[in-house]
Amino acid sequence: MAISDVQLLQAWRDVLNLSKLKAGEAVTILSSSDTNKQNLEAARNAVIDLGGVLTVLELPPTNGEIALSRDKVAFLGKTALHGNKAAMAALKQSDLVIDLMLLLFSPEQAEILSGGTRMLLAVEPPEVLLRLKPSTEDRRRVLAAAEHLRGAKKMTVTSKAGTELHCDIGNFPVLTEYGFVDEPGRWDHWPSGFLCTWPNEKTACGTIVIDRGDILLPFKNYVQEPVRLAVKDGYVETISGGFDAEFLKSYMDSFNDREVYAISHVGWGLQPRAQWTALGLYDKEATIGMDARAFYGNFLFSTGPNTEAGGKRDTPCHMDIPLRACSVSVDGVPMTINGDVVREDQKAA
Ligand SMILES: [Fe+2]
Repeated sequence: MAISDVQLLQAWRDVLNLSKLKAGEAVTILSSSDTNKQNLEAARNAVIDLGGVLTVLELPPTNGEIALSRDKVAFLGKTALHGNKAAMAALKQSDLVIDLMLLLFSPEQAEILSGGTRMLLAVEPPEVLLRLKPSTEDRRRVLAAAEHLRGAKKMTVTSKAGTELHCDIGNFPVLTEYGFVDEPGRWDHWPSGFLCTWPNEKTACGTIVIDRGDILLPFKNYVQEPVRLAVKDGYVETISGGFDAEFLKSYMDSFNDREVYAISHVGWGLQPRAQWTALGLYDKEATIGMDARAFYGNFLFSTGPNTEAGGKRDTPCHMDIPLRACSVSVDGVPMTINGDVVREDQKAA
């Protein structure tokens, strides 16, 4: 469904207010040739309306000739900021960067954030932004969950489908995504509503069963036959099952890089307005699948890089894989049971 310009402008105003945009702050919007034009216009008008000092940077597209998909999360190579001193200077001098092109995982993003600049990523289409518009309540529940992860030593994930995964945690930060940037140096993604951390290197072990109906991103497919991953010393050692397993293995093999098989972030979804079904209703190029990443009670794990968390594993292949009906425990305390959020402080009203 289309969203009116007025609705979208108001939503951008709301999210920029949640992001504590003050009159006189320097705001730079990062755009590219495939940036959603309605989002760009609404963001631009909202910044001006709230008194921000606006710059719009348009950078050329990158990686199109080597990626297997138009989904920008599917290939995390060098971004258009690589070697662009002028753009970097503008971004580092900004109080707030609105990323409408997708810089996730780039060293340039880390450099910009390190100076205290806030960065808000928003690349989903307008109707998804509105349906999943963040709130202070989202923030409260995600931060309550983060309290359990901070300082924790173990995460365990089980499911009736056969998942039994054990990770040592604590060496990497906890990433909270609630959809706005209200602190200096904070990065967030509108829309979201989940949290994660990264297993300590070489500690993830066990079995992950991607069951029928679970989602493979960036394929944007619902798995039809269970896929079994044997995980040892932090890496997926074998992938077995039917067609979905064969497809996944062939795709990951095509990068010809062992680091592709490392277990990356692990966490759970807390966004009740995100829907497991949403991906089935969209053309694959119309969304990056944030509903799938954030839906309430999921176990979201990923493979590939951990540079986003300060690790050294830099590889362009990143699979995000949300599972339903899992039970996630942190230091033995259940966070979800069979895909339902069980802690009162994390439950949605
Ligand atoms: Fe991810």
